[in-house]
Amino acid sequence: MCLYNSMTSLSTTLDGFQLKSQPTNLPDARKEPFGEDPGFARLDGEAFPEFRPGSVWLVGAGPGAPGLMTLLAFHALQSCDVVVYDALVNSDILRWVRKGADLEYAGKRGGKPSPRQPDISFRLIELARQGRRVLRLKGGDPFIFGRGGEEAGQIAEAGIPFRIVPGISAGIGGLAYSGIPATHRDTNHAVTFLTGHDASGHMPANVDWGAIATATPVIVMYMAIKHLAAIAAELVKGGRDPRQCVTIVSHATLPHQMVSETTLEDVADFLVSHEPPTPAIVIVGNVSNWRRILDWYSASLRENRIG
Ligand SMILES: C[S@@+](CC[C@H](N)C(=O)[O-])C[C@H]1O[C@@H](n2cnc3c(N)ncnc32)[C@H](O)[C@@H]1O
Repeated sequence: MCLYNSMTSLSTTLDGFQLKSQPTNLPDARKEPFGEDPGFARLDGEAFPEFRPGSVWLVGAGPGAPGLMTLLAFHALQSCDVVVYDALVNSDILRWVRKGADLEYAGKRGGKPSPRQPDISFRLIELARQGRRVLRLKGGDPFIFGRGGEEAGQIAEAGIPFRIVPGISAGIGGLAYSGIPATHRDTNHAVTFLTGHDASGHMPANVDWGAIATATPVIVMYMAIKHLAAIAAELVKGGRDPRQCVTIVSHATLPHQMVSETTLEDVADFLVSHEPPTPAIVIVGNVSNWRRILDWYSASLRENRIG
């Protein structure tokens, strides 16, 4: 069982909450749907810079649900000449790629090894040198456990102009869609994002698990299922309460999202008996208890209100 002791009742939390009066200088949405800036409606103007030939944009596609992509990412899909995309990009998003643009897949296919990182970067540079507008589309956010820093570094070294378009990371979107606030003043003033998997596929040796166990009330883990039993054992060894909640969010934000709950002391057996699907985000911490009242998404799916 997870611990519930740190959860404040909803009525206490909402006590004293008052709507502030509406600002008066907002545009009237019925007359001016996009305010006074017509450029906004057309996705151009300063907020939507020109995608220049010979440049590379590293763009976050968000965690899965197509609607969670940014407007700037949408603008990029509509302006590019070629999209080089990863396995975790929802194929529904590719419908928005400008007609006539090429699509190149750079993910893992049918159990075969992924293309090597230098090969992907080389390809991006090669396409940019052909004078094309190159959109590198990555799941979640390109700079969170997405090798975006490595690709951008190689592109920068090659002297190719580039731009980073952030996306909603799975560790943010997955929490929102499972009713877990990443922070809540009643449960945690800090949150730590980490990966359970290093470049060689092992549990990262340079993470100080003992320090993580005590220093951070909420841990959000990417790529952690393979080593989760060992990670849980390290956290307990480091002083974490073995009864603390472990929440696993598989296929976050998608209609087949699945959320499982166990505890640090039970997670090893749980993984064997339940085999939670991947990709998955793992959350350790009492903030998960807010799910009891904030789980809006599975309720919406049950009632068929959200596609
Ligand atoms: C290589 S990392 C990419 C992370 C990505 N850059 C981001 O910001 O979300 C892949 C890991 O992200 C997590 N992930 C990505 N998409 C997910 C999803 N829809 N549901 C759950 N986890 C997801 C999983 O932990 C997966 O193993």
